[in-house]
Amino acid sequence: MIWDRQELKSVIREKIGEHKFVVVSNREPYIHIYSAGGIKCITPASGMTTALDPVMTASGGTWVAAGMGEADREVVDAKDRVQVPPDAPAYTLRRVWLSREEANAFYYSYSNEGLWPLCHIVHVRPVFREKDWQVYTAVNRRFADVVLEEVGDDTAFVFIQDYHFALLSAMIKEKRPDIIVAQFWHIPWPNPEAFRVCPNAAEILDGLLGNDILGFHIRYDCLNFLDSVDRFLEVRIDRERLSAFKGGLETLVRPFPISVDFDRIEKIADSAAVSERVRAIRGDFRFKGRFLAVGIDRMDYTKGIVERFAAVDRFLEKYPEYVGKFVFLQLGPLSRIHIQRYKQYNDEIYHAMVDINERWGRSGWEPIVLQKVQLGLEEVVSYFRAADLCVVSSIHDGMNLVAKEFVAARTDDSGVLILSQFTGSSRELEQALLVNPLAADRFADAIKQGLEMTEAEKGERMRKMRETVRENNVYRWAGKIVNEMKKLL
Ligand code: F6P
Repeated sequence: MIWDRQELKSVIREKIGEHKFVVVSNREPYIHIYSAGGIKCITPASGMTTALDPVMTASGGTWVAAGMGEADREVVDAKDRVQVPPDAPAYTLRRVWLSREEANAFYYSYSNEGLWPLCHIVHVRPVFREKDWQVYTAVNRRFADVVLEEVGDDTAFVFIQDYHFALLSAMIKEKRPDIIVAQFWHIPWPNPEAFRVCPNAAEILDGLLGNDILGFHIRYDCLNFLDSVDRFLEVRIDRERLSAFKGGLETLVRPFPISVDFDRIEKIADSAAVSERVRAIRGDFRFKGRFLAVGIDRMDYTKGIVERFAAVDRFLEKYPEYVGKFVFLQLGPLSRIHIQRYKQYNDEIYHAMVDINERWGRSGWEPIVLQKVQLGLEEVVSYFRAADLCVVSSIHDGMNLVAKEFVAARTDDSGVLILSQFTGSSRELEQALLVNPLAADRFADAIKQGLEMTEAEKGERMRKMRETVRENNVYRWAGKIVNEMKKLL
């Protein structure tokens, strides 16, 4: 059976019925900002919010998130609630306000300078400060209070997102053990050796065992989590059932590989607007008549952007027949720029590009084009359609939805995906050209292989990958989690 928005809606209505459904995340699904004509509502560039919006539309529940938009306060009611989506209200967005100091300590510092590098293991040293941990704990407590207020006296399902809320489920359960709580951890979970450097390791594990269900992208992360629990806590673990028992509560630890809205991307890919954009991209003097490879990522050190530039450099060195005939276009928004390591990484990307272009460039041609921009889905799809190759070279990535978006966009059954073997998506997209992003020589060979692949082989590989993503789409991801939650009623 292929899951779609309609199917998910009916499953949610049937399974959740009269229970309240509350989603919690740091990032909100709709942001209000000031614009020339007044206030404008925009959606953030986040795979997570895109994945959950249909779930919320179907459940008509409440989404609790931090209010981040400059005009967010202007549109909420006295209880900090606003109905969304703005053009067809279907659920409630409840905003939680964090001061600048809180956001710095909770989001930038503890979550993204601490937990993010801790979980990704890409040789960026995590930074843990006691004061950030105190704020992280206090913010989790604030969200717990808001969730409990939203649930009121009703029975409820609460679905928490990500590493910003490691303590939240236990805080909810402390007051309301009857609420069914699930959490999805959108990033990898490290092995116990790596995890043990976290000064709050035991508290974090203890907090996460407040969940009835704890989801990761792949089984490997589930096993790493259980191994960490085993190392730090005195609780019973059942490796057969993939679960841990703390007090009277069993936490089921399960893989739920997240995905994309395949149908929506396919529709956009087949639109006249995209064909128009593709013509414009291919006609751009920098790309015209040349092979075009693209990478689209947030500027984040986990994404292996410097490593892919190094592979382009090696490719031109090994295969000089491509000098002047190949362009690598790197697109994507700046991210978490208040963090020192991200500032540094941006400089590294820029300098790597300048050095390589200086080495190989000649009049009218530069091998690397870098544009730090935030793109809408239609633009992303257009670049995917205009490209001969898409390169995803994360050094470590929980899933990576860019790879799945590329596959969904290639309704022409063409194009080649070069994919890091360290992404969750490489477990599903076996027909991609899998690379170790640190092995520049082999990576360079994969670029050559991709450019020289016959149309027949491209078609065969792409058709198989498209079947996989079509079937394992985002509605299936959400539906499977809802089904698991319902079993616990
Ligand atoms: O990949 C993990 C994740 O938290 C996603 O859920 C999210 O889309 C992405 O990182 C971006 O994170 P941020 O909200 O910090 O920009």
